[in-house]
Parts: sequence; C-alpha cells; structure tokens
Amino acid sequence: MPRTTDRYGELPEYVLARIPARKRALLARGVDVIDLGAGDADLAPPARALDRLAEASRMPAMHRYGFGLGLVEYREAISSWMQRRFGVAFDPMTEVVPLIGSKEGIAHLAFAYVESGTVGIIPEPGYNSYQGGTLLAGGEAYRYALRPRTDFLVDLDEIPDDVLRRARLLYLNYPNNPTAAIAPRDYLERIVARCQELDILLVYDNAYSELAFDGYVPPSIFEIDGARDVAIEFHSMSKTYNMTGWRCGWAVARPEVASALAKVKSFVDTGQFMAVQAAAVAAIESYDDFVPANIAVFRERRDAAVAAFRDAGFECEVPQATMYLWIPLPEGVASADFAERLMEDEGVIVLPGSGFGAGGEGFFRISFIAPPERIREAAVRAGRVLAGFESGVQS
Ligand SMILES: Cc1ncc(COP(=O)(O)O)c(C=O)c1O
Repeated sequence: MPRTTDRYGELPEYVLARIPARKRALLARGVDVIDLGAGDADLAPPARALDRLAEASRMPAMHRYGFGLGLVEYREAISSWMQRRFGVAFDPMTEVVPLIGSKEGIAHLAFAYVESGTVGIIPEPGYNSYQGGTLLAGGEAYRYALRPRTDFLVDLDEIPDDVLRRARLLYLNYPNNPTAAIAPRDYLERIVARCQELDILLVYDNAYSELAFDGYVPPSIFEIDGARDVAIEFHSMSKTYNMTGWRCGWAVARPEVASALAKVKSFVDTGQFMAVQAAAVAAIESYDDFVPANIAVFRERRDAAVAAFRDAGFECEVPQATMYLWIPLPEGVASADFAERLMEDEGVIVLPGSGFGAGGEGFFRISFIAPPERIREAAVRAGRVLAGFESGVQS
C-alpha cells in the first residue's frame, strides 16, 4: 500500500466521528440515552419542502446531472432571499454558488486560495471544514484560540505579522458554533477593513444567521461597507429549516471569487440532486410560515437548558443565537474526561471542548436537539457527574 500524505496525516480526529457507534452500543445495553451532541435537530423540515421533493422526484429531468449550474430557480430563490433578508444584491448566475451543504463549499474554497507557504487563520474551537480545507490544500493552519477574554472574537492584532503576511483566508463564524458568541457590527467593520489592508479573503460562515433569539438579528457580512471586495459568505439550509441530511447550502460573493469556488467544484462534484434543490426553493418560500415558529421551539429549549444547567451547578450565559450552550468546566476538569464519564455513567452525549481543538479545552457543548424535559433530565445527570469530579471521586 502507498503511504498516505503528510497533509492527510495532519488531520486530527473528528470529534463527532466515533459518537454514532458509541451511541448504538449504549442503546444496545438498554441505556436511556439523551443525545445533545451534534447540531442536528430532531425536528421536521417544512412540509412544503417535502411535498415539493416528492413532486420533483417524479420528473425525469430532475434526475439528470445538475452540474454547477443546478436549478436556476434555486439560484433565484437564494438571490431574492439575500435581498429581502439582508438588503444585499447578488446576481443569481454569477454571484451565487449552490452547494452540497455549506461544509463542502467551505472546504473546497481553500483549493482555490491556499497552497504551500500560505496560511488559513482558523478560530479554535471552530467548525472542522476550516482546517480540513486549509490542510488538504497544503496550507498551514494558524489556530487562534477563541476564549472569553476576547468575547470569543478573533483579534487580528494578536496574530504575528509574518502569519498575517502569508494569510490568504480568515474563517469567521458568527453566530458561532460552538461558543454561541455573536459579533458586534463595529467588530465586523474593523475586520473587513483589516482584510482589505492585508489582502485576505474573509470566509464568513453564516450557518446560524436565522437561529437567533430575543430580537437579535444577525447580519450578513455584506451589510458591512467594503465587504464585497474581500468576503465570501456561506449559508446553509441545515439549521434554518431542520434539513441537515439534505445537504443543501450556498455561497455568495463577487464573480471572481464565486467562479473560483465553482471551478474547483466542477472538478470534484456534479451538483446537488435537482429535486432537492427544488425542495429547497419551497423551503425558502415557506420562511415566514416556518422559521419564526421553529425558532420559538429552540428558544424554549434554550431557556430550559440555561435554567437546568445553572440549577445543576454549571455557570452559563444566555446565548442570543445558535442551538448551543458552551459551558465552562471547573479548573482542572478535562473536557474529554467529563464528556466520557457523562456518556458512560449517565448516558448523556455532549461534545468535549477539546474535540474542537485545544482552544476549546475547559468547556463542553450541548445542542438543543431534544425536548425541554429531556434537556432538564440531561442537566440533572450532568450535575451528578460534575459533583463527582468536584468531590475528587472521578479525578
Ligand atoms: C459553523 C458551521 N458551519 C457550517 C456547517 C455546515 O453545515 P451544512 O454543511 O450542513 O450546510 C455547520 C454544521 O454544523 C456549522 O456548525
């Protein structure tokens, strides 16, 4: 067998990869498992999307290759929604890139912009396709630890000049997975200005733009002056419409950047199933009927989670967006040990902060992917495990 490449060898283990098998084993043992692991809601997608999928799947034309173009109607729906939601105009044919989930687009973008000797600046903890793209493209990953000290924001002034000089991509994701942090507008203005000065492409991952609470309305990076010169923004159907398994998302950017991503993709995929794209149009069209009610479900879960985890002895902030709580652990309790004990002894699946990279150590993440009563039960069990660590029983 030939050896695998050095860049392959640089990929760390993916935190979520082992969990499905562990969960199966727990269920087989008869454990009452509460899974708060992945950002993968247990809720239904819009009914109109299901109807449209069924209808479209009966049309022979939908079963042919979509190629990069895909369904023009999907491009148009994306362009209209971006205009309506953020007040930003993107040409459906030259500035929109349909994706097979935003993850693949984020990862593939690096193949157009990163090579040996260049750097991708990667917030850590952070979504794994940032380093996946940068490392597989042969670039260097500069990991910036997101900590409470900077409100979980990347401060470019803390990054060495020689790294900034070699940086091609800066990945930012607000509302943030896993910390649930949001980015103030003046921060985004400063970042756009710095990316202009440094000639860095700002990869703005807006997967959680619609999952916000209490009147907070996350912006598009393109609401910021100058962003069109330096940014590409990624969106996903996954969280907004409970459509994670459908693999549907998009990117928007000026034509040079959009076409670079589209060209890379033309060598590695042949487009999303067009019936899925048709169904995604129906989902986007059902935004007003579907999204606010869906957010209300997540808000109820968020409130239940914050109250229950506080009652159980954890400190946690009230997140204004996302489907996550990012909960600090006491000094000296390793997040992997805590998550392991919680899974093995109590049947509760959470993600250890260290699974998102060293910058995530000292925290664990829960997702609002179960009803409030199950989240409350999970918090009680987590409290027992915490008490065990605090009394030294488990340490
Ligand atoms: C921050 C972030 N970006 C992107 C994605 C990818 O979403 P998808 O590939 O399902 O569109 C996720 C999924 O969890 C995410 O958390």
